Amino acid sequence: MTGLWLGLVAQKLFVWGAASAVSLAGATLLLSVLQMLASYARKWLQMKPIPTVACAYPLVGHALLMKPNSTEFFQQLIQYTEEFRHMPLLKLWIGPVPMVVLYHAENVEVILASSKQIDKSFVYKFIQPWLGLGLLTSTGIKWRSRRKMLTPTFHFTILEDFLDVMNEQAKILVNKLEKHVNQEAFNCFFYITLCALDIICETAMGKNIGAQSNEDSKYVRAVYRMSDKIFRRMKMPWLWLDLWYLMFKEGREHKRDLKILHTFTKNVIAERVNEMKTNEESKGTDSGPVFSKKKGKAFLDLLLSVTDDEGNKLSPEDIREEVDTFMFEGHDTTASAINWSLYLLGSYPEIQKKVDNELDEVFGKSDRPVDLEDLKQLKYLDLVIKESLRIFPPVPLFARRLNEDCEVAGYKVVKGTEAVIVPYALHRDPRYFPNPEEFQPERFFPENAQGRHPYSYVPFSAGPRNCIGQKFAVMEEKTILSYILRQFWVESNQKREELGLSGELILRPNNGIWITLKRRNPDESQLCTPAVPLS
Ligand code: HEM
Repeated sequence: MTGLWLGLVAQKLFVWGAASAVSLAGATLLLSVLQMLASYARKWLQMKPIPTVACAYPLVGHALLMKPNSTEFFQQLIQYTEEFRHMPLLKLWIGPVPMVVLYHAENVEVILASSKQIDKSFVYKFIQPWLGLGLLTSTGIKWRSRRKMLTPTFHFTILEDFLDVMNEQAKILVNKLEKHVNQEAFNCFFYITLCALDIICETAMGKNIGAQSNEDSKYVRAVYRMSDKIFRRMKMPWLWLDLWYLMFKEGREHKRDLKILHTFTKNVIAERVNEMKTNEESKGTDSGPVFSKKKGKAFLDLLLSVTDDEGNKLSPEDIREEVDTFMFEGHDTTASAINWSLYLLGSYPEIQKKVDNELDEVFGKSDRPVDLEDLKQLKYLDLVIKESLRIFPPVPLFARRLNEDCEVAGYKVVKGTEAVIVPYALHRDPRYFPNPEEFQPERFFPENAQGRHPYSYVPFSAGPRNCIGQKFAVMEEKTILSYILRQFWVESNQKREELGLSGELILRPNNGIWITLKRRNPDESQLCTPAVPLS
């Protein structure tokens, strides 16, 4: 009897307990939802005065208005920045998340010059499976310490060592292009990209993967698929949850590619560590790293030797993050920049002629490798590169998540807002760049650039989180362009509207860059000794 009574009491207690737990969970959930709604309503009201486009619905915001296709989305964003050119900024609601679009130098400065607003937007989370928390994706103390450690590795004197690799790969590229001389127009995009990929692999890891001669490398293909997938995932909220993503074929392929990429980098790092150990042992000294003369010095070697303020070295995983970051940031960007320069030079023969004259002055008729002194002397080419980066910035937009409220052009922008900086639109501000669509390298003559707002031109971003690789990039661009233009005269008949501009992670011409090549010095055609068969 007592047992039955106890059983009934226990049952009741269990029901009450369960009911209370459910109501408590329900109440907590309700409270969190209410809190979220209150915070959302507060943000909505605080941000209300900021100029915006019509049709923002509660919670959904402008999401229904946004074009799903990346080419169309980029065009749409650029169209908005043109419509709102006379306004200081533009607000969009992406679901419940506020976003401000910045395209005026004065307002871009507020974010980029700040030493506090250094957190990257939440979409960078999709790059993290590949790059971990390396220089591009990390923030706070970790980023500051890494940045301090890595800055010396990009010093000009160190970059000088990479010039040999750039020359060697540029020569291979020129020899591959030979077969197009006096032929139909061809798409040069992938030729340049493979060359840039070979350069970054060898300079970052000390590994020659021969992408230009062997287009079928497993690693190269994985790099390509990964960049594509990252951008697709950013655009598709239903693929954002990691576990859910893995349910899709794309998520499983992503996992497979990650394995290929990480295994490759890890093996290269391990190989290099062993090589350094052997070298040190054979020297019988511990006075710092000894670099393999056979392979030349790579960023990886420098990463293996740098230390922080407390004298701590980077772990193998830290090094992997940074090497992968250089691989990701360091090839598509430069390839895009070189392609755009070729396109513009091919469309403006009078400007190409000026480059030609300069090349004659610096190199005469020689096809010798480029040295540091040449790079300094190629001043007009420098302006051409700057102006190409203005019209077609390879990173057409980048974003920060604001970690505290701030004021932009007199408007309050609340913490948690995504601030999107759009160099593509910023560089077309007619106050600083009259006739912005015109290719005029002379804009960058010191006398013409005088008084221009320092944040009106930011192809490499600006402020504390600017691009650490910009000197490397310009060096590579100058080397490759001077190699190509010493051999060939480039022509392009593609109209801007035929390019299929798409602002994914990188500004790409979806329809390719179609150029024709003529020999520049017809009687000197035999000067360039083929480094690879001309098939
Ligand atoms: C024309 C070529 C390049 C362009 C236009 C470019 C542009 C940029 C931009 C706009 C950023 C800021 C991105 C952001 O805030 O989200 C950036 C950051 C970065 N870039 Fe570049 N980049 C180029 C080449 C390179 C190269 C060759 C390397 C390395 C070898 C490199 C390494 C990096 C790294 C590590 C960061 C992150 C820096 C930090 O947050 O401290 N970039 N780049």
